[in-house]
Amino acid sequence: MEHLLRPRTVAVVGASRDPTKIGHVILKNIIESGFPRERVFPINPNVDEVLGIKCYPSLKEVPYEIDLAVIAVPASIVPRVLEDCAERRVKAAAIVSSGFKEVGNVEAERNLLEIAKKGGVRILGPNIVGLIDTVVGLNASFLPYLPDRGGIVMVSQSGALAAGLLAWTKLKGIGLLDVISLGNRADVDESDLMEFFSKDVHAKAIALYLEGVENGKKFMEVARRVSREKPIIILKAGKGWRAAEAVKSHTGSLAGSDAAYDAVFKQCGIVRAGDVRTLFDYALSLAMLPDPKGENVVILTNGGGAGIMGADACEEQKLRLMDIPEDLASALRKWMPSFGSVLNPIDLTGMATEKEYYGSLSVLLGDERVHAIITLFSHPATLNPMNVAEAIVRCVNKVKGDKPVVAAFIGGKECEDATRFLIKNGIPAFDTPERAAAALATKYRYAYYKSRPKGKHLEVRVEKDKAYGILAKALREGRNLTQSESCELVSLYGIPTPKKIVAKSLEEALSSAESIGYPVVLEVESPDVVHKTEAGGIRLNIKDGRELEDAYYGILKSVKEKAPGARVEGIVVRPFVREGVQVAVGMHRDEVFGPLIMFGSGGALVELYRDVSFRVAPLTDVDVDEMMRETKVYHVLEGFRDAPKDVRSVKEVLAAVSQLSLDFDVISDVDINPLFVYERGCMAFDVKIMLKGSSLCGT
Ligand code: ACO
Repeated sequence: MEHLLRPRTVAVVGASRDPTKIGHVILKNIIESGFPRERVFPINPNVDEVLGIKCYPSLKEVPYEIDLAVIAVPASIVPRVLEDCAERRVKAAAIVSSGFKEVGNVEAERNLLEIAKKGGVRILGPNIVGLIDTVVGLNASFLPYLPDRGGIVMVSQSGALAAGLLAWTKLKGIGLLDVISLGNRADVDESDLMEFFSKDVHAKAIALYLEGVENGKKFMEVARRVSREKPIIILKAGKGWRAAEAVKSHTGSLAGSDAAYDAVFKQCGIVRAGDVRTLFDYALSLAMLPDPKGENVVILTNGGGAGIMGADACEEQKLRLMDIPEDLASALRKWMPSFGSVLNPIDLTGMATEKEYYGSLSVLLGDERVHAIITLFSHPATLNPMNVAEAIVRCVNKVKGDKPVVAAFIGGKECEDATRFLIKNGIPAFDTPERAAAALATKYRYAYYKSRPKGKHLEVRVEKDKAYGILAKALREGRNLTQSESCELVSLYGIPTPKKIVAKSLEEALSSAESIGYPVVLEVESPDVVHKTEAGGIRLNIKDGRELEDAYYGILKSVKEKAPGARVEGIVVRPFVREGVQVAVGMHRDEVFGPLIMFGSGGALVELYRDVSFRVAPLTDVDVDEMMRETKVYHVLEGFRDAPKDVRSVKEVLAAVSQLSLDFDVISDVDINPLFVYERGCMAFDVKIMLKGSSLCGT
């Protein structure tokens, strides 16, 4: 990775004299970026020299060690070039050429990887724009120029987007350390890059644009570790509800494909950005700001409007605005007219000049009770924004990075220039108070990620043999588990379920109800009916034998009509359970990351309310706690306008579902909905377990 990302010598394969060809542009860029000419080797069998540099017919002829070969020849020639790399012991290859997996040539790409693995060559790409490294001063890409040097590493799965973002960051004055186009990721992927940059002293933050992750396990393992050392910010595109309509479980249809990414990012301490702008807003804040030492945030402004917007934004971002103590207030009053305000936001008024900004900011920076500052400036005709920006930089430099300071300058071109100046001088600066508050809040969020305990994995004791028996029978018969098998399976993992008897006739149902005691519930026992309410397959609160007889025949008739062809294996009789707070616990197996565990509000309307949160198994106690707190129903469990419920029992259910999903990867989905939660204990009222590849019919 060192040879790929910090090369000492570079060969360009496909270096043409034709200035319109990519191989020519890359060679020219390498030279123009200041990389020493004597360490650049153009390769082309048809010419002796390109851009004044001696050209070799093949890599094999180069009499020097080569760290990196940038390959820009048509796809059909790439395998041969890669063989040369292997023979010549070139350490890394950046393959610009398109025409592999992205157009369906999976086999050709696999072949590249095989050659590279055998020869010990690391591959970046194929299908990339190349890479830029400001540490050695190398533009080994067909991107037009080097970025301004900074601490942010930019990695993009899309080459075209990398080009756009390079220009965009240049315009905004945002400094980058490396720009890396990932392309098809035949070998080097985002995890390898995160790992490398976690140890690079120059890298302060890693910003990635990703469309997806292929190796979920590796990604989680690396990201979890790296994010404690370096901030990772990801813009993940493609939030689509992949095949959501084809998924029959509640959990599956709520999960879509994006919930897994969201969960993984939270579990791994990755900051998620919603768009390009926030990707760099957060990257700036995380790369530049020192960790805050406490929660007291102060807003300094020259305008009431900006101040109020800033205060609203802080509230929304859950930043705590400090109450200004009297001694601090009187120190600040010296820097404002009598009609200024020392309430937070501190309003210096439109009369403020750079002198007032400098003075009041010095007071705030010097006070230990103040932990972070948002400096707002709204452009009045009387003052040049650059003067204020310079005053802020001077003031912050004087105290040398002790506490986070962000800025927002509201105005036109002059404010834009001032913002760029601030960024170049290490102060994250934006054009609105909302962006400034969000950037600061991200710093707080990341500080929380870094300091939160790693958590303990929750283990559950189970009778695995019995569980295996239940699943094996259903698998042999090519079906999902029935309701009673599902209940039995989860009860082996310690999840409380109501007693059930499967009756094969009306007489058996009547005697079962007598033994359980009225009121009872009747429901159809069928591996094919997934949503029983819709199929008319369930009747609640049956109080006597006469009602039971009606319900028994009613269910059989309704299922026959609404789920024709469904196998009916009997009618389940169970007690009519007292209702508690309804929550839902579930699992949907994600293709990339594995079992995705869900918690949220339960009942028939889960999909409508969407009060749910997700984490990927195995769950730690920290994961369980965080995921529960993200939902509204958690507040109900905690005792919102009622007695607190048994939260611990729900945590045990989440741990059990996590364990069950890890024990048997043949299970595709688990739905426990509702799980009634009482003041003491809980009860899984309805349990569905679906198996991979089992065909579902009915509703
Ligand atoms: N070793 C070295 N050079 C060779 C070899 C060899 N074995 N064989 C041929 N060459 C030379 C060619 O003779 C030519 O040089 P010349 O102009 O002196 O004749 C040079 O290599 C280039 O070969 P061409 O056949 O002319 O190929 P061309 O430059 O037209 O295209 C390229 C090559 C750019 C790699 C093309 O095949 C390709 O894949 N383009 C897409 C690149 C891309 O977009 N990548 C993804 C970016 S991501 C995004 O979204 C933008």
